[in-house]
Amino acid sequence: MSENNNIIVAEELTKIYNETTTAVDHLNLEIKEGEIFGLLGPNGAGKSTIILMLLGLTEPTSGSIGVAGFDSTREPLKVKSITGYLPEKVGFYEDMSAYANLAYTAELNRVPYREAQERIDEVLDMVNLVEKKKHLVKTFSKGMKQRLGIADVLVKSPKLVIFDEPTEGLDPKVANQILQTILDLNREKGITFMLSSHQLNLVQKICARVGIMSMGKLVGEGQMDDLGRNLFGGGKYRIEIELAKVPDELIADIKKIPKVLDISVDGLKLTVSCDTDLREDISKIIARAAIIMTRMDIKQDALEEIYLRYFKEEE
Ligand SMILES: Nc1ncnc2c1ncn2[C@@H]1O[C@H](COP(=O)(O)OP(=O)(O)O)[C@@H](O)[C@H]1O
Ligand SMILES: [Mg+2]
Repeated sequence: MSENNNIIVAEELTKIYNETTTAVDHLNLEIKEGEIFGLLGPNGAGKSTIILMLLGLTEPTSGSIGVAGFDSTREPLKVKSITGYLPEKVGFYEDMSAYANLAYTAELNRVPYREAQERIDEVLDMVNLVEKKKHLVKTFSKGMKQRLGIADVLVKSPKLVIFDEPTEGLDPKVANQILQTILDLNREKGITFMLSSHQLNLVQKICARVGIMSMGKLVGEGQMDDLGRNLFGGGKYRIEIELAKVPDELIADIKKIPKVLDISVDGLKLTVSCDTDLREDISKIIARAAIIMTRMDIKQDALEEIYLRYFKEEE
């Protein structure tokens, strides 16, 4: 383990397919042990390509990526021994039971037989599938298969689990169950997770830190809260006001309110960034100046903003 406890490090990681498509463009990223990191971005942003390079399944065009100090390109087996990977489409032997599928995975990963038996029961319990262990996988719903997929990666006791689009195609209730399972595993077993998703609203529920990908580039990265702050001009809240007129004195007066962090004017629209809800203070000043206010909104959810900026094409 590297001393700074980074489990994933990407440096200037670049992938160009067929000398034409730049799928990943000079990516620099560090993920710490114990984190649940969300790699977010619309379809085609380059998320899966990063994951494939991380697993050593495809080679970077330039730059590097590694797991726990092992270079993914040069030491893929080392990386695979500590990394569990759940691809977008989980494949199982449909005519075998849940248990038999996991036993097969255990065997492939050279988990000793007795240990495997215990561990399979343990991981099936974690994903609430113990009762179904003898059932054939073909009788499972998509959500159950996804849960079995989690159990499958846990059989080899990974330090890191990479989950590509974990909630894709699941209804919100089932998606939330999957996310809860991930959260529990992180808390109880200290497993590091990297989740890729184009569904920001789901993944932000469990990822304290996210990276936002757009066209192969990391266009935003940080704690969910901080990301919002950056987009909100430094404050936790953003108040939007529309007025019949916007004299300079009014702007100066609003600027004088303590706790106003930033103010910007766009025609008849004012945007005030602040850390507390200053709507009352601002309203008073506007009333005193006898100016008609046509609208006042407060936004404190960074999510909507991030959506509009990067995920709009998904709507
Ligand atoms: N094997 C491939 N050959 C050529 N182009 C690819 C290949 N895989 C992905 N791409 C292209 O690379 C870009 C990023 O794709 P991908 O990593 O799958 O994005 P995401 O997982 O974010 O949807 C897209 O433009 C995609 O069409
Ligand atoms: Mg993908």
